Amino acid sequence: MALMDKHQILEKNASLLLVFSFLVVTIGGIVEIAPLFYIDNTVEKVEGVRPYSPLELKGREVYVREGCYLCHSQMIRPFRDETERYGHYSLAAESMYDHPFQWGSKRTGPDLARVGGRYSNAWHVQHLTDPQSVVPESVMPRYGFLAGQEIDPSLIAETLRTNRAVGVPYSDEMIKQAAADLAAQADPNADTSGVTGRYPKAVTGDFDGDPKRLTEMDALIAYLQMLGTLVDFEAYQADAFVR
Ligand code: HEC
Repeated sequence: MALMDKHQILEKNASLLLVFSFLVVTIGGIVEIAPLFYIDNTVEKVEGVRPYSPLELKGREVYVREGCYLCHSQMIRPFRDETERYGHYSLAAESMYDHPFQWGSKRTGPDLARVGGRYSNAWHVQHLTDPQSVVPESVMPRYGFLAGQEIDPSLIAETLRTNRAVGVPYSDEMIKQAAADLAAQADPNADTSGVTGRYPKAVTGDFDGDPKRLTEMDALIAYLQMLGTLVDFEAYQADAFVR
């Protein structure tokens, strides 16, 4: 009996066909899904992407706590209308150190994935304090109180350690220096070579307009100013042609 003839047995027996169909789908499913469990294989490494600096990480915590994601997404889709408005579409690697990710599905306000460097720190302070003073029709709430909330640097090392537990590659050195780095990044008079050495491209200086105090406003703006700035897309694209 030829192989195709044997196939008749399956086709004529509904229960047997069901069993074999199930087998085929199971094997196919495993082959497709199993590699995704190994995140290292799934997310392509992209030059420039690094873990958040302590100040950015703190700002991210404020962002999540205040529910900014309820109105803002952080994922530029690969469509022309989006890339012309926001810039290069988001890469998976750009959110590889996000726990949890902030892609979002709601855009009451604009996407923020590449808002870094688009406005000055003073603009952000003004906008966060009183959005309607900058964009009169804005429905964004006021967050001026963040400038009154000072940060306790003694807890930041634990936050880094927690992120390390879920896979962010913070080194022992980064954790040891976390409290110092947190303060130095927002201090216009500090030696910032340590912070920028450990976290390349970190934006330093006073963020909230009050250099004497380290507040949640400093942290949130430091976070906003780095969003989407880590990957140098010009070098990246030129490089892609060479290879
Ligand atoms: C109720 C919805 C809402 C929430 C919550 C919200 N925003 Fe907005 N946001 C908006 C809207 C609408 C705009 C556009 C008008 C404007 O610029 O104010 C906006 C604009 C912005 C912009 C300017 C973006 C650009 O490209 O011009 C930034 C930055 C921003 N929001 C940050 C935040 C942060 C940080 C938080 C959390 C602390 C937050 N927003 C919470 C609605 C919201």
